Amino acid sequence: MIRVTRRFPSLPYFWSLIDWTLPSVISHKRLLLKVQNVADLALVAQKRTPKVVFDYVAGSAVDEIAYARSKDAYARIELNSNVLRDVSEIDTTEIILGKTVDLPICFAPTGYTRLMHHVGEAAVANVAASKNLIYTLSTMGTTSPAELAQLVPHSRRWFQLYIMKNREDSLAVIKQAKDNGFETLVLTVDTPVPGLRYRDNRNGLTIPPKIRLNTVAAIARKPRWWLNLFTTGKLEFAAFRGWDKSLSELASLIFDPSTTFEEITWLRSVWDGPIVVKGIQNIEDAKSVAQLGVQGIILSNHGGRQFDRGPVPLEILEDVVAAVGNKVEVYIDGAVMSGLDALGAIALGAKAVFIGRAYLYGIMANGEAGVDQVIEILRKEFINGMALSGSRNIAEVRKNGARIRK
Ligand SMILES: Cc1cc2nc3c(=O)[nH]c(=O)nc-3n(C[C@H](O)[C@H](O)[C@H](O)COP(=O)(O)O)c2cc1C
Repeated sequence: MIRVTRRFPSLPYFWSLIDWTLPSVISHKRLLLKVQNVADLALVAQKRTPKVVFDYVAGSAVDEIAYARSKDAYARIELNSNVLRDVSEIDTTEIILGKTVDLPICFAPTGYTRLMHHVGEAAVANVAASKNLIYTLSTMGTTSPAELAQLVPHSRRWFQLYIMKNREDSLAVIKQAKDNGFETLVLTVDTPVPGLRYRDNRNGLTIPPKIRLNTVAAIARKPRWWLNLFTTGKLEFAAFRGWDKSLSELASLIFDPSTTFEEITWLRSVWDGPIVVKGIQNIEDAKSVAQLGVQGIILSNHGGRQFDRGPVPLEILEDVVAAVGNKVEVYIDGAVMSGLDALGAIALGAKAVFIGRAYLYGIMANGEAGVDQVIEILRKEFINGMALSGSRNIAEVRKNGARIRK
C-alpha cells in the first residue's frame, strides 16, 4: 500500500487559489461570462429578446425540416486529420473576389436587424470592418446604404438585392448601392414567393411590432428591449425611405414570381461590378448562372426559411464546385453555427461560408460586443480545427479534404 504523507495546510497557497470575483447581479451578464460557443450565446439571446423576435430569427419555414437537415449534415462532416505537420503557424486568410479577408467567413444579409438589437446593421458592419471580413447589407435592412457607408466608411460592403417587379425600382435601389461604395451585388433568387413561416404567424409577427393587449405583458418581460425600440430611430425598410408605400406593398414588389434568368442578364448590363447569385440549390442552375458572367454563387436554402423540402446545400457542394468552381467562386450558407462547421464546408470545397443566425444571436445577446464574440468564437474553433487536422492554411484545408458521413 502507498502511504500518503500529510502536511499542515499552507494558508497562502489556499488563499491564492480563491477567485475573488463577485458574480454579477445582472443575470444576462452572469450568463455571458459562461458562454463557450454560439449555441450558448443563442440561449442568452433568447433570454434578452421578446419571443416573437427570437422566433423570427431562429425559425424557418413550414415544418422546419430543411434547416434541421442542414444542421444534421454539418454534424456529419468528418475532416481528414494529419498529425506531425508543424502547425505552429496557422494562416486563415483567403482571397474573396480579388481581396484578402482574415477568415473565409462572411456576414449574410439579414432584414430588420434593428429589430434584433437597436444598434442594428451598422454594429455588425463595424465588427466586419474591424476584423477584415465582408458585410452584406439586405435590401430589407433597417439602415440605408448611405447611412451604413457614413457610419462604417471602411467596411468592405456588399449589397443584397431582390429583383423587383419593375426595373426602375430595382435601378433606384442599385443606384444607392453604387453611390455608397458597395462593391458587389448579391442577387437573392430563392424568393419568387415568400416562405411560409408558421412560427411568425403563430406569434402574430408584424414589422414594426404592433401594440396589442398582449404586447403589454411582453413589454413587462423584456422592458429594456422595448425601451431601446421606442427611444431609437424608426424601424423601417431604410432603402425605401420616402417611397410612400406600405410594408405589404413593398413586400409584393420584392417577391416577384415572374423573375427568370433574363433578369441576371439585365442586371449584368446595368451593374459593372461583381455579381453573386444567392439561393442556388442544384448543379444545373449553378451551371446556367455561371454562364451569365457572374462572379460568384451562394449555395443556400435561405437558412431553411423558404422551401422546406429542397436539397441540403452542403450535400451538393462538392458536385457544384466540380461543375463550376473554375468559373465562379462557390460560397455556401445555412446552419453554420461553429468554426468547425465553417472549416468542414471549406474542406469540402467552398470558397467561403456566410453566417446569418450565428451573428444575430450575438447581437441579440450583447449588441456589437456579442457579434465580436461570435467571430472570436468561430475564429478560435476554426484555428483549433485547422491545427488538429494538420492544415496550416486554407489551401491545405481543401487539399486535406473531408466527407459527409452517411
Ligand atoms: C432573420 C433573418 C433575416 C434574413 N433576411 C434576409 C434578407 O433580407 N435577404 C436575404 O437574401 N436573406 C436573408 N436571410 C437569409 C440569410 O441571408 C442566410 O441565407 C441564412 O441566414 C443562412 O442561414 P443561417 O442563419 O443558419 O446562417 C435572413 C435570415 C435570417 C435568419
